[in-house]
Amino acid sequence: EETFRPLHRSSIESANLLAEQPTPSPLVSSAIKSKEQVNKRLKHNAKMGNAEDSPDKSMSADAVMNEKWVLSKRPNGLFQADTDVELVQESIPFSTVEKDEIIVETSMLSVDAFIRTMLDENAYHGSIPLGGTLGAIGYGRVVHAGPGSGVKPGRWVTGFMGAQTFAKVKAAQTTGVIRFPFMSQSASLGLMGLTTGLTAYTGVFHVCQKPKRGETVVVTAAAGAVGSVAAQLAKSTGARVVGIAGGQQKQAFLLNDLGLDGAVDYKSNDSTLEQQLEQTCPDGIDFIYDNVGGETLDSLLYRINPKARVVICGAVSQYSGNLNHGKVHGPSNYLKLAERGAEMKGFNVMQYMHMLPFTLFGMFWLYMRGKVAMKEQIENGIQSFPIAMQKMFGGGHIGKLLVNVQHKKE
Ligand SMILES: NC(=O)c1ccc[n+]([C@@H]2O[C@H](COP(=O)([O-])OP(=O)(O)OC[C@H]3O[C@@H](n4cnc5c(N)ncnc54)[C@H](OP(=O)(O)O)[C@@H]3O)[C@@H](O)[C@H]2O)c1
Repeated sequence: EETFRPLHRSSIESANLLAEQPTPSPLVSSAIKSKEQVNKRLKHNAKMGNAEDSPDKSMSADAVMNEKWVLSKRPNGLFQADTDVELVQESIPFSTVEKDEIIVETSMLSVDAFIRTMLDENAYHGSIPLGGTLGAIGYGRVVHAGPGSGVKPGRWVTGFMGAQTFAKVKAAQTTGVIRFPFMSQSASLGLMGLTTGLTAYTGVFHVCQKPKRGETVVVTAAAGAVGSVAAQLAKSTGARVVGIAGGQQKQAFLLNDLGLDGAVDYKSNDSTLEQQLEQTCPDGIDFIYDNVGGETLDSLLYRINPKARVVICGAVSQYSGNLNHGKVHGPSNYLKLAERGAEMKGFNVMQYMHMLPFTLFGMFWLYMRGKVAMKEQIENGIQSFPIAMQKMFGGGHIGKLLVNVQHKKE
């Protein structure tokens, strides 16, 4: 499903980017008390054209039937969908819901690179135990609420739902879904999502001195979710922007859709990364937005200019086995920082929550001016979640990778 539009469209055009998904429905307003009531509600919602609400067997008067992906084996290197996880079913009786808990019927899940890091032991974001549910941020609708939760069934909430069709979570760990004007609902996970668009905005504008007109910026994993937004934001400053991504399709995306000044294919068989950087960055590099780390970061550090800024957002090349095992490929060219009086600074978006109002406003402003947009790649059904994870590390997606959990019901 395509929601991406080429840049520099007018704000009127951008208004046409309205939701492809159903608007969060305020239809369910009272607690579900009987099977008749459930079916009545579902039929009513289906009549209102809300396809995801078609009557199904996943919900009864006193329980929901959850389908969840659990970790069956810690990945050895790259995540393998067919061996590392399994899909299990469980009934969640409403009687097990604590006072402060809610049950959310998940609608859309975000597939993020950091999920891979949680599959190892001693992970920074928290380790998923064997048999535990795969992590995922997402949003959905509350179908049952504990009496002390302060939430009514029918409310749309977002939070760490996990890769499952129904999430039993603490109400306090969720927030209401924000519906941004002129954007699809999924933008709350993509362009306006904390771990995606807002991370990109933070890294470009808040961590070091932002790029300037005439400077050369290089963004790694530039065809991915964070990278594609970071590249567009850097371009909005007037800088020359070069993106690095794997494969020809992504090169075309960087040059034609994002309008970047140069594209580097780190997987190319025809020329090396060094040769391509020599060609695309003849005057050196002033600003690096790095999502990849490893050898790529080394090649970039070698070319930094005096007073360059190197922003470390992530290191996806190191997530599949090196992290937490003491095997991270460190930047061997770090002395270039000293030689050039340059700085390298890492960040976690959570450290910039005080900037959130500025970040949200800034992103929305650039969106309305046609300077930034998000291409979304939406996979269908909870079944597709592990394959989507595999795509993330195998070059199988462009832009924001999402899973539309409710698709199977259509
Ligand atoms: N600092 C923060 O607060 C924060 C918050 C959120 C995300 N992040 C970071 O942002 C980065 C992007 O995350 P995302 O969720 O938006 O994922 P993404 O960029 O949509 O997907 C990951 C991308 O990484 C590339 N990749 C995978 N394996 C690679 C390898 N071995 N070498 C080079 N490139 C590789 C793939 O593109 P190719 O096809 O081009 O290989 C893929 O598109 C990650 O490093 C993540 O940890 C940081």
